[in-house]
Amino acid sequence: MKTLIHNTTIINEGRRFNGSVLIEDELIKQIFNEEEVPQEILDQATVIDGSGKLLIPGVIDDQVHFREPGLTHKGEIATESQAALAGGVTSYMEMPNTKPQATTQAELAKKYARAAEVSAVNYSFFMGATNNNLDEVLKTDPTKVCGIKVFMGSSTGNMLVDDEKTLSEIFRNAPTLVATHCEDEEIIRRNTEIYRQKYGEIVPISRHPKIRSAEACFKSSSKAVELARKYDTRLHVLHLSSAEEMQLFDAGPVKDKKVTAEVCVHHLWFEEKDYIAYGTRIKWNPAVKSATDRQALWEALLADKIDVIATDHAPHTLDEKSHAYFQAPSGGPLVQHSLTAMLEFVKQGKLSAEKVVEKMCHAPADLFRIDRRGYIREGYYADLVLVNPDKAWTVCPENIFYKCGWSPFEGTTFSHQVSKVFVNGELAYDRGEVKKHVRGKQLNFVV
Ligand code: DOR
Repeated sequence: MKTLIHNTTIINEGRRFNGSVLIEDELIKQIFNEEEVPQEILDQATVIDGSGKLLIPGVIDDQVHFREPGLTHKGEIATESQAALAGGVTSYMEMPNTKPQATTQAELAKKYARAAEVSAVNYSFFMGATNNNLDEVLKTDPTKVCGIKVFMGSSTGNMLVDDEKTLSEIFRNAPTLVATHCEDEEIIRRNTEIYRQKYGEIVPISRHPKIRSAEACFKSSSKAVELARKYDTRLHVLHLSSAEEMQLFDAGPVKDKKVTAEVCVHHLWFEEKDYIAYGTRIKWNPAVKSATDRQALWEALLADKIDVIATDHAPHTLDEKSHAYFQAPSGGPLVQHSLTAMLEFVKQGKLSAEKVVEKMCHAPADLFRIDRRGYIREGYYADLVLVNPDKAWTVCPENIFYKCGWSPFEGTTFSHQVSKVFVNGELAYDRGEVKKHVRGKQLNFVV
């Protein structure tokens, strides 16, 4: 099986060049850099015309919630992985706050088995930590599992790890990377009381960043970084959202770091004043904060203090989201729109397409040490995305793949459109159509 993506603009490893990519079976066989492709290859391969398009490696999203098992009215591995595919995300790492939670090796194994049956793209699942499952956490296989997820602040699923001794033991002994959700519980509790006294149960959504405050984020992130420095842990701090936290991270390439940082698309896109228009649709933990915080995230991203851009894709139904402040769950669906949203920033001149590829494809592959993915390189898996940079389209219910059926981007017009997506060499998505037979593979990690 040979496919040639012919005569396209390849964006990879900080470079942009005209070329072609030959796929053979599941791998990238050959890259033609500013060269003519020999006639015999043109004759043998299925040729896909890439002219006028951009070819990038498939996006690797290191933080998604696909809700299976147990919360499948919000999303399923099948539906959300298809949404990922439609958005150019060819690999994902999924979180343990399902029902039951993935906090034993047996539950984790069930998720892998289910994904093998239904996932449209490549997958890995985090092992979840609790205050009392250390023995299970330590059994995690670092070649098969992307990391250990530690909620150092509670969110959907009540998985808070606040026992000091357990936290130290996890950071000291984790067999693989530790990924943290950082928000200090005590500060959140205190703020909640203040605003409950002021407003009763009907707290305005605009107070969300005052309750889940920048102070709460900084205190918890500082603690995670301190523990990682003490125990020499590979730490990845998820969804950073505030200016102050940026002082905790070093600038430079992922390969030189043990402590790394992630930002999510919503924290780069939205800011405090958007609560008026969007209400609880943009209620996330950590909260979308001030314009100053957003600006600081942008600066840290461009200075390479922030290493990875992800989504924290966390679907809830619109019915659930329509409740008053305390009852409306935090989280929203994003995985189908992360790449096009970031490419919109490229159009606006906020960053280069090369930087988008670095932060969404290369960096997660390096940071998690994923086996042969995240780059367009000969011998690597052919996870590839062909993007049309001149195809304006508007997000609407008819083109949303999420099971929950809504998006915070509804009504937004994007200038770039994902045209075709290859997963392990197979054409898995083609201009609006998901090829239902294609299945992803389990990610492997090089230790
Ligand atoms: O907003 C969020 N929603 N943040 C999280 O950390 C969890 C997520 C969810 O699972 O709903």
